[in-house]
Amino acid sequence: MNTLEAIQTRRAVKHYDESFTIPNEDFETLMNSVLLSPTSYNIQNWRFVRITDKTLRAQIKEAGWGQEQIGAASELVILCADLNAWNDRPERYWANADHQTQDMLLPMIESFYTDKPQTQRDEAMRSCGMAAQTLMLAAKAMGYDTCPMIGFDPEQVSTLIKLPESHVIVMMIAVGKSRKAAHGRGGQLPLNEVLVENRF
Ligand SMILES: Cc1cc2nc3c(=O)[nH]c(=O)nc-3n(C[C@H](O)[C@H](O)[C@H](O)COP(=O)(O)O)c2cc1C
Repeated sequence: MNTLEAIQTRRAVKHYDESFTIPNEDFETLMNSVLLSPTSYNIQNWRFVRITDKTLRAQIKEAGWGQEQIGAASELVILCADLNAWNDRPERYWANADHQTQDMLLPMIESFYTDKPQTQRDEAMRSCGMAAQTLMLAAKAMGYDTCPMIGFDPEQVSTLIKLPESHVIVMMIAVGKSRKAAHGRGGQLPLNEVLVENRF
């Protein structure tokens, strides 16, 4: 499947084959693909929580309004971000770069995020948004379906997964084999309503 086909056929699927297990090798391929998504200054501030504990999965389903896909899909991944990633040994993000590039970028990262909690939070949303779309398209290309979700109580889920203080939850994604196709599309706004040329 090429990229355009994956984009055109990806849907938020709600009904999954509960008996299906994604081979671990596929899950690793999927997540390693996600890691190739872009982040600002390459800070890779995302943190992914794979829920493998059945009891925990059931508790998260309860915190997620009982949504079927939370319990039934083969995998449930919670996309979180570390708000302090920019300040956590940032030399790691440019480990393969030459010294000149490192000397230029590391102070830039510091001044871009220092004392800017809103920017740190925005970056969490940007990075996980990028990661989410990669995850969903890569899953589609591998023959799986997904459902992105924000329909859950974030405080309850934070407690359940022991989310560290400096982290936020951005969304969760169910991944598995569809047992029932998604309904027809809700309807896309026309391009000329959402595409502006030069200025609003
Ligand atoms: C951030 C985000 C949160 C969403 N939360 C939920 C959710 O909690 N439950 C659900 O069934 N669908 C959820 N969806 C799926 C959307 O309803 C769906 O993507 C949208 O209607 C467009 O349909 P499509 O993805 O099939 O094209 C969410 C989608 C996004 C991007």
